[in-house]
Amino acid sequence: MQINRHRPWASAAVAAGLMLAGGAQAASGVAMTPPMGWNSWNHFEAKIDDATVRAQADAMVSSGLRDAGYRYINIDDTWEGERDAQGVIRPNKKFPDMKALADHVHSRGLKLGIYSSPGAKTCAGFEGSLGHEVQDAKTYAAWGIDYLKYDLCSLGDTMRAAGGLEKAQAIEVAAYEKMRDALAATGRPIVYSLCQYGFYQPWRWGPSVGGNLWRTTGDINDKFPRMVQIGFSQAGLSKYAGPGHWNDPDMLEVGNGGMNAVEYRTHMSLWALLAAPLLAGNDLTTMTAETAAILSNKGVIAIDQDALGKQGDRVRQEGPLEVWAKPLSGGAVAVGLFNLSDLPANMTLNAADVGAKGSVAMHDVWADKALGKLKVFKAVVPAHGVVVLRVG
Ligand code: GLA
Repeated sequence: MQINRHRPWASAAVAAGLMLAGGAQAASGVAMTPPMGWNSWNHFEAKIDDATVRAQADAMVSSGLRDAGYRYINIDDTWEGERDAQGVIRPNKKFPDMKALADHVHSRGLKLGIYSSPGAKTCAGFEGSLGHEVQDAKTYAAWGIDYLKYDLCSLGDTMRAAGGLEKAQAIEVAAYEKMRDALAATGRPIVYSLCQYGFYQPWRWGPSVGGNLWRTTGDINDKFPRMVQIGFSQAGLSKYAGPGHWNDPDMLEVGNGGMNAVEYRTHMSLWALLAAPLLAGNDLTTMTAETAAILSNKGVIAIDQDALGKQGDRVRQEGPLEVWAKPLSGGAVAVGLFNLSDLPANMTLNAADVGAKGSVAMHDVWADKALGKLKVFKAVVPAHGVVVLRVG
């Protein structure tokens, strides 16, 4: 489904200074740590329906992922049907009863998410919310929806036609604010996820239009180079993230088959260090034990979900070797030693690199092994792999 999406309507040289004053998240108190859950798009695209969503919710529980912290079951594009005579949106025949589906998901101790667009059409060409924002927010709340991904798509056409960057930007901001206010008016806590592929530096204005998270890039795919391109391009964005408002480098591909286990561990580790939303994008009903273990690793999830809510950032880079660090509550630091090259590499972390004086306790997170107090840590990091340490 490649309709109407991802055409940058402005040059990359969008001027700085788009930060808008004031504003608050659509629903305060939600997304105090990066949202965790599952989304239908990466694996199922348009082949998503009621039975599949129920099965994913059930598998979220039986696989142990719910207990590992995953909560949201998010339906992406292609659920939308026609509007009725009063303009009320109806799901298409793949989703006979959205309220009953929400009840099922809630009965599993999970939350349900949905998808729409501020434009007339969604990216896959289905009905968007343009002109029906208040109505749609009310419908979502009545169904029991807990999360909305609001995907720019066809509004981009309107913005391109607006004649100029400032006008385009104003159209976008107004559209996102409209849905923020519509969601707030329902009184239901609904996570508000902005999806506009990172154009116009959304990290600068996402919080002020109510975003609990905002996509920072175009779509991910299930290939190592694309995951690396997206993940490592987040350098410099850490200062924009915090409790209630997160940078979103897109959903996880872990378990979808296009990368090996070493590469998926790199993907998961980087997203955790980025305090990124952890939205699994695989088929939970058929995943291997290895995939479940990667997605549910306690130490890695604890880094992502750390209460301090600080996003990690690059500490240093030497060609394909990168060191990233994320401050944790209690004064510890999570560190990733990434080897993006095609051969194993020797990597070193000096305690001083993360501000420690003398030797400091280090813990290998994936191996779940205390390494003792060290001044210098050295490891051979596998090709495309990572060593994650908890330092201090
Ligand atoms: C865009 C988004 C994707 C997905 C599709 C659905 O490409 O970026 O995450 O939601 O639309 O059509």
